[in-house]
Amino acid sequence: MLIINQIEKRYQGNTAVLTGLNFKVEQGECVAVVGESGCGKSTLLNIIGTLDQPDAGRVLIDGVDLAALNEKELAAFRNERIGFVFQLHHLLPQCSVLENVLVPSLLRPDSAETRAMQLLNRVGLSHRLDHRPGQLSGGERQRVAVVRALINEPSLLLADEPTGALNERGADELMELLLDLNREENLALIMVTHSMRLAGRLDRVVEMIDGKLK
Ligand SMILES: Nc1ncnc2c1ncn2[C@@H]1O[C@H](COP(=O)(O)OP(=O)(O)OP(=O)(O)O)[C@@H](O)[C@H]1O
Ligand SMILES: [Mg+2]
Repeated sequence: MLIINQIEKRYQGNTAVLTGLNFKVEQGECVAVVGESGCGKSTLLNIIGTLDQPDAGRVLIDGVDLAALNEKELAAFRNERIGFVFQLHHLLPQCSVLENVLVPSLLRPDSAETRAMQLLNRVGLSHRLDHRPGQLSGGERQRVAVVRALINEPSLLLADEPTGALNERGADELMELLLDLNREENLALIMVTHSMRLAGRLDRVVEMIDGKLK
C-alpha cells in the first residue's frame, strides 16, 4: 500500500537527512521505525503523511503518486486516507472529547458521530464524551487522539512516538490498542519508537541509518 522509491531530503543549510531511502509497506502490516535522535524518522513520517515533500524520489500510497496531487488534492487525500498520532496529543483544549474526534470528519457530507461513539466505546472512553482534554489522564488523551486519527477510516496510521509521554504501563496499553485496531480495521501502521521492547511487538522493525532504512 506504500511504496517509497529513492527519496532524498535536505533541509536548508543542513546535510542530507534522507539519502535515497526505499521503503515498502503492505496493507494491514505493522512496521516499527527506530533510529538515533535526529536521524530523520519524523522527516520520513511527515513525507509519508504528505505534510512535507521529498527533494527527489517517489512516494506512492494506494497506487497514488503523491507528486501528482496539488495542494487541495493532497489535503483531501490526507484527510481521507491517513491518520496521525503524535507524541503529544494535539487535542483542542476548549472542545470536548466527542467534538475533538469529530474534527477530521467535518469535511464529510455524512455524520461520523455513530462511528465516533463506537470507537470511543471501543477504547473505553464512552463515559468521558463531554470531558475536556485537560480533564483526562495522559493515556486517555492519547486514546482520544487515536480515535480522532481513525474517524475517517484511513488505510494508513502514522504514529510518531505515540507512547513517548506515557509511563511503561500506559505505553503497553496504548501499544496493545494500536495492534488490536490495526487488525480490526485492516490498517497499515507505521510507528516511530525509541523503545525496542515496543518495536519488537510489531510485524517488522526497520532501522534508519545514514538516511536509509535497514
Ligand atoms: N524544519 C527543519 N528545518 C531544518 N532542519 C530540520 C527541520 N526539521 C528537522 N530538521 C533536522 O533534520 C534532522 C532530522 O530530524 P527529524 O526530526 O526527522 O529526526 P528524528 O529521527 O525524528 O529525531 P527524534 O528521534 O529526536 O525525534 C535533524 O538533524 C533535525 O535537526
Ligand atoms: Mg522525531
